[in-house]
Amino acid sequence: MRAYAGEVKVVVLGSFNMDLVMRAERLPRRGETVQGAFAMHLGGKGFNHAVAARRLGADVEILGRVGDDPFGRQFLDALDAAGIGRRGVTVDAGEGTGIASIVIESDGANTIIQAPRANRRLSPDDIAREDASFDDARVAMLQLETSMPAATAFARAARRAGALVLLNPAPAAPVPDELLAASDIIVANELEAETLTGAPADTVDAACEAARKLLDAGATAAVVTLGARGAVAVTRDERHHQPAPAVDAVDTVGAGDAFCAALAIRIGARAPLRDALTFAVTAGSLATMRHGAEPSMPFAHDVEAAMRTTKG
Ligand code: RIB
Repeated sequence: MRAYAGEVKVVVLGSFNMDLVMRAERLPRRGETVQGAFAMHLGGKGFNHAVAARRLGADVEILGRVGDDPFGRQFLDALDAAGIGRRGVTVDAGEGTGIASIVIESDGANTIIQAPRANRRLSPDDIAREDASFDDARVAMLQLETSMPAATAFARAARRAGALVLLNPAPAAPVPDELLAASDIIVANELEAETLTGAPADTVDAACEAARKLLDAGATAAVVTLGARGAVAVTRDERHHQPAPAVDAVDTVGAGDAFCAALAIRIGARAPLRDALTFAVTAGSLATMRHGAEPSMPFAHDVEAAMRTTKG
């Protein structure tokens, strides 16, 4: 379990959504009903980050809010079973656990509507109370499924504690300058990069250009993921493109989350950016080969084996 992460401790800003997943041949048109298959999985970008980081060998603590309901209890049990520290997870008496309504099409592509619910009530005070969670953390990971004030407080607290801050600006939304300025590494998909830079990021060159613009906001590294075309990573002095291995994708939900966690722990273990990118692209690709968010987060040995196969 520790082959890649060493003693890396990762603190995660948690978002928790019960994923209600419909698999269908295609999305319905407006006013149309199509039939499909149903499944329910634990998810939420922050929860997925935490599970993936743990499976890849890191020590993980998570902060966040769940509802006082059966879904919330399922998350608490899953965190305990995974060995993820959860003293910073509050049970909210006034709002239910987050929900995501997801449709997966036959090629594995997904569309998601998220109802944040308790996630949205995470506050800067919740973060301040958990200052000790950041002690000895190498990396702190956050996304935008909780509240913007909590996300900003989280990034600042992580910075103060000396952790590298990895921002995954998802779901796509304008991000306050102060949050961008408190982020060391930004990992965005094409849509998120376009939202932040105002320019398309749908080719390797355009994604590199978008990543360069993201550096202007203060980050030292910016990464844009391109789905089946892999990802690019850019710093002031480096530019890398890592194509994705060919895989039979059945469900892309959580692939970006596996990517972020893999990149975070490799950078936290002080690997060169080029190597961290290869590791992350492999982890993300593996996550598309199984259904569900939490069930598809890969283990270190899975990624290691896939990298050996790819090298031939
Ligand atoms: O990134 C995938 C996650 O996004 C899903 O688990 C779902 O909860 C949504 O928030």
